[in-house]
This record gives sequence, C-alpha cells and structure tokens, in this order.
Amino acid sequence: MSADWTAIEALPSPKLETLFAEDANRLETFSADVAGIHFDWSKTHLTTEAVTAFEALAKAQDLHGKREALFSGKVINVTENRSVTHVAERGEGSEEDNAKAAALHARMRALIDAIAAGALGDIRHVLHVGIGGSALGPDLLVDALGREDTAYDVAIVSNIDGAALEEVFKKFDPTATLLVIASKTFTTKETLTNADSVLQWMGEAGVEDAYGRVIALTADPDKAVEWGVDETRVLPFADSVGGRYSLWSSIGFPAAIALGWDNFAELLEGAAEMDRHFQHTTLSQNAPALAAFADLYYTQVRHAETRATFAYDERLRLLPSYLQQLEMESNGKGTTIDGQKLDRPSAAITWGGVGTDAQHAVFQLLHQGTHLVPVEFVAVIEAGDTLSEDHHRQLLLNAFAQGAALMKGRANDDHARSYSGDRPSTTILLDDLDARTLGALIAFYEQRVFVSGVLLGINSFDQFGVELGKEMAKAADAGDQEFDVSTTDLIKRAFG
Ligand code: F6P
Repeated sequence: MSADWTAIEALPSPKLETLFAEDANRLETFSADVAGIHFDWSKTHLTTEAVTAFEALAKAQDLHGKREALFSGKVINVTENRSVTHVAERGEGSEEDNAKAAALHARMRALIDAIAAGALGDIRHVLHVGIGGSALGPDLLVDALGREDTAYDVAIVSNIDGAALEEVFKKFDPTATLLVIASKTFTTKETLTNADSVLQWMGEAGVEDAYGRVIALTADPDKAVEWGVDETRVLPFADSVGGRYSLWSSIGFPAAIALGWDNFAELLEGAAEMDRHFQHTTLSQNAPALAAFADLYYTQVRHAETRATFAYDERLRLLPSYLQQLEMESNGKGTTIDGQKLDRPSAAITWGGVGTDAQHAVFQLLHQGTHLVPVEFVAVIEAGDTLSEDHHRQLLLNAFAQGAALMKGRANDDHARSYSGDRPSTTILLDDLDARTLGALIAFYEQRVFVSGVLLGINSFDQFGVELGKEMAKAADAGDQEFDVSTTDLIKRAFG
C-alpha cells in the first residue's frame, strides 16, 4: 500500500474550544499515563477523525512492520546498510543484540568499579570530550540528575573553541582528572583536538602517565587504541547504535560513573518501559504515536515550520538542545527511503527554552505572532529545589496558565491588545525527575521521531547532511580547496 496523505490533508481545522465543547471525554481520549509521565494532547487539534486518518497512513507505511524490524534488529538504516540497536541497550532488542549490549555494559561497570577502587590513582574530576550525540545526551543526564552530591565532578566539553576547555581547566585539578574521549567514529576533529589539549594540560601539570588516565568510548576500538588509549580502557559500543541514540551505551559513562550504576540501570529500565508501551499499545493510545500524529498534523496540514519545547524545570534546561539534534538530525531530510525527493515538509525546526525565563523573552511571538508554533510544556510535579514551596507552585502554574492562554486568547477592539487564541500546546508532566522517568521521557522522544520518520517515508538513522560542511572545513585547513570570492576573503581576513 502506498502512502496516501489525501485524507490527512483534507482534515478540517476545528477550533480547540469547540473540540472541548463538543466532547466531554476529550481530555481522556487525548491523554495517556506511561511510566510515571502524564501526556496531555487535548489542547492540540487532534481529533478521533485525525487519529483514524493517521492510523490508515501508518498502515500504508507499514509502521507495525517497521517497528517490529526496529525491535528485532533488522537492517532498517538502509543507506548505511545496518540495523538500529539502541533499544537493545535497554534490553528490548533481539536476544543477540541484547546480550552484546549487556556484555559491554558489564565491561563499563567493571571499569567504573576499578576506578572507584583507585586503579587509576586519585580521580576526582571527569572531563568528557565529545560532540553532538557524544556529548548532548550525557550532558543532559548529568545536568538533570547530578545536582546533588555526585561521586565525581563532571564537565562535558564539546566545542573546539578553546575557551570551553579553559573554563574547565580553571576548575579541575589536572592531577586528579580522568579524560574521557567520546567519539563513535574516533575521527571527529573537534573531539581529538580537545583530547590533545587536555593531555597537554595534564602533562604540563606534571602528570607522568597522562595516557594512563584516558578512557575511550567508541564504536571503533581499533582507532582508539591506535590513538594511544590502552585497550583495557576502551569501552566499545555497537556500530548500529546511532550517535544521537547513544546515551544508553558506553557514551553514558559520565552519567554512570557520577550518578552510580544503580541510577544508570534505572535509566535503562525507564526507557525499556516506554519501549514496551510503544511496542504493544494500540496507536490511538500510544504516546509516541499520538505525539507524532500531532507533529505531522501541524507540519503537513497547518504548515507549521517550527515546534517549541519549553522545560519548566531547571534540571531539564538542556532538553531543548538535546531534542534539536535528535529530531532535526533524524528527520531533517529531503529524500525518501526509496531515494526519491520528499514532496512534503520534513521535520519541523525544533527550538525552545526554559520556563519561566522564556515567557519574558519569546512568548510574545507565541501569543500574537503570525507563525503557528505548536508548543510543548515539560514540567515535573515533585520540586527539584528545597526553597519555599511557592517557587515550584508558581513555576507549574505558569506552565499551565500559558497553555490555557494560548488556547483561549482574548478578544479586544484594540488589535494590539487582542489575542487570537486557538494556539496549540501539549503538556508533559512527570511525577518526579528520577533516572527511571528521565529514561522513559527520552525514549518517548526517540520513538516519536521514529514514527514520524516512518510516516514521512524517510530514513531517520543516517545524517549525510552534516558531511559536506565537515569536508570543506578540512579542505580549508589543508589549503587545497578553491572557495568562492566571499569565503576566500573571509579566510584571508582571518589568517592573512
Ligand atoms: O557531525 C554529526 C555527527 O556525526 C553526529 O551524528 C555525531 O553525534 C557527532 O557528529 C559526533 O560524532 P562522533 O561520535 O563520531 O565523534
């Protein structure tokens, strides 16, 4: 069956308030509770008619078959001819892939225990260098869950701008620092340059065997060994785990060492619970599927070009940037899985920020601007601070009030003071922000991206779009590329 978007494109555009007025059960129909997370899509324009149309599209696009292929480790990343096995990291893949992932986790755990026992000397700081998927996930985890006492101080540095490393050098003791090099390919220029500079900093401080304090997290162990990391301190992960899906693998090392293995295991278990929900729940009640349906409704029917996520919790302040890579690197494609030109909008541009800060900066446009921006509020019922309860109460009430205001609007004869309303939002409310719930939340986003990719008919697991810029930067460095007049002038101005 080939994809037929006709029914979806013909969906009516009812007003949100009408949808509530006409259906007393709307909240129940368009909400779900999974793994300690409440999802509320009732303030989106999803209708049962829309869900039925998306279910038909899912059937035409063989979502069930593709989901089965994902969980059973079939080759679904066809452009790179490999399977996609991040679900095996949480024990939800094929038996063989699960066993491989478990063995690599055991190796990681043993090394963490050895470090705790002093095998690498006095280690108090963990300096993780990596970029993109080799940094954003661990950074999110440590920032979200590591705010109380952690076993080690962790810093995650990604940018090649030396200012990023220098900031850490001011805080960390080079004689008590573990250098963690995270790179799936072990070829990424930014990461290897940063690693060299960390080794130099250690050497200058008199650390005799700086290489003895280096750990590598990679899918290409030979390259790490060639680079100089001792084989016993290389923590591999499978090539079939995509960079932006890799925080569950050894790339999660900084979280596992700082938060403790039990927390890391809980993170995996939370993700597994979401995986099982995604795998076994009918689409009309399936959280990742309903979220993807809403996303597609807005991009394909209402022509929304962006979608914004606001974390109403400081602990989740890195969530929007994590989602930017997950969603845009996965589904920002212009080619279908059959190699045809995609004839409809790909993923929306993901952006966002932190509430309530963002209310005083960008919400003007959300309430009165001419762009349609579906908004997602992510909040946590249990407070992450110990100050007066008023802080958390105000935080949550603001999130809820913004959703209500976007939907309701307010008419005024003075256009400048008028709010059109009928602006959609989704609310994701976590009971608590612990490792398990965060694992479930991240897995929810991964599976939502998967559903969108399947319905759009694209491969969510390659990222050829990033290659050209990388190649040209390399060529510029080697001086063997002819550039346009403007670029040549910029290079000349900078380097003479
Ligand atoms: O440039 C994009 C990218 O390939 C991402 O997909 C990846 O997460 C990141 O670079 C880092 O790559 P690596 O882990 O191989 O250093």
